[in-house]
Amino acid sequence: MSKRWKCTVCGYIHLDEAPPENCPVCGSDRSMFILLGAEKSGLPHSLMATFKLHPVAAHFPNGLVPTAAFFLLLCFLTGNSSFESAAFKLILVATMVVPVSVASGLYDWHKHFGGRRYSIFFKKIGLALTLLTLGLIAISLRYGDPELIATVGWRRWIFFFCLLGMLNCVMLLGHYGSILATQVSAMNRTKGSNLGSSINQDWLRAIVTLAPDAIIAADTGGVIRLWNQGAERIFGIVSGQAMGQSLDLIIPENQRNRHWEGWAKVMLSGESRYGQELLRVPAIRGDGSRFSAEFSIVMLKDEAGKITGVAAILRDVSEQWEREKRLREQLQACHDKESMG
Ligand code: HEM
Ligand code: HEM
Repeated sequence: MSKRWKCTVCGYIHLDEAPPENCPVCGSDRSMFILLGAEKSGLPHSLMATFKLHPVAAHFPNGLVPTAAFFLLLCFLTGNSSFESAAFKLILVATMVVPVSVASGLYDWHKHFGGRRYSIFFKKIGLALTLLTLGLIAISLRYGDPELIATVGWRRWIFFFCLLGMLNCVMLLGHYGSILATQVSAMNRTKGSNLGSSINQDWLRAIVTLAPDAIIAADTGGVIRLWNQGAERIFGIVSGQAMGQSLDLIIPENQRNRHWEGWAKVMLSGESRYGQELLRVPAIRGDGSRFSAEFSIVMLKDEAGKITGVAAILRDVSEQWEREKRLREQLQACHDKESMG
């Protein structure tokens, strides 16, 4: 297997025994290359990396319980008792795997959702325990009594009731499970999207917290919920004072109507034109002084696309503003001179 060399300037990966003379992407010389550790590749490795126990274990009850019901139906339709004994074995296997589904589900709950106490998880635990109980009752009724289905009596009806209950449980467990799986894949997408796979939550937190630009987020009611160090520096207001206050804290009085009108519109439309363009406005610092600010807007939405807040990335552009003003004045003075001459 050839070695993997990485250009420390542009990140280009070169596969060979030795690094290239010059990087074919950025032209840096070979001293800029470092040897990367051998990375496992191939099908077995990628299968290992993507294997998830919970979906596999969950598909035992989800697949086998409906199949058992189908086999029992075939037994009634054809009178062939081998379908009934196959159905019993399927129920047996499905029930035995439930503890594995529960354990792996609990593991995924903690791994992907940090064990957060959302009702969906308690519903799943309740349904899984009901499934296990019904499975055990069905097995104990049928165990050692191959004639159970053929014999008319209350035991047979309890058996059918258990099977019906199990069908409902697996249907709901699968339904809630697919909601959770969609959420997990959305979270994974967000983790990797446009950010490269090496970026992690600590990086994101550091970027937002330490950025020299002000990063401010407010909830739908316009109450400040995030105020980074850049905002503290630019506005001279510490985070503890800003959090929980209205955005009016930094908006000059004569700008507030326009701001809140625009705000109300984007709450309805879900889109802001300042996701693409920059908005330049006068802003006020904690000491009441004014400065020229320029910012763009990020609309914050939940999984369902509902707006949960708005973030602004803002910088102080007073210097540029002053420079432009001076240039405009000089230009005007030149024009005036020309027209006088
Ligand atoms: C017999 C019991 C259970 C069954 C049949 C079941 C079924 C399922 C199914 C079908 C999925 C979707 C898998 C996929 O398509 O990727 C799923 C996902 C999930 N379930 Fe369960 N579940 C059970 C118990 C539990 C329990 C007790 C919990 C935790 C409280 C749980 C938590 C989860 C989580 C967090 C996911 C998303 C996992 C991921 O995508 O990584 N499940 N479940
Ligand atoms: C620094 C003080 C601020 C001032 C002076 C200000 C002023 C304004 C003005 C004049 C508009 C109307 C723009 C137009 O009609 O084109 C506006 C719109 C808006 N502002 Fe502010 N704003 C400030 C801070 C913020 C912050 C920190 C946020 C978000 C956290 C924010 C969110 C919005 C939104 C979402 C709109 C509507 C944008 C659109 O129409 O697409 N503003 N603001």
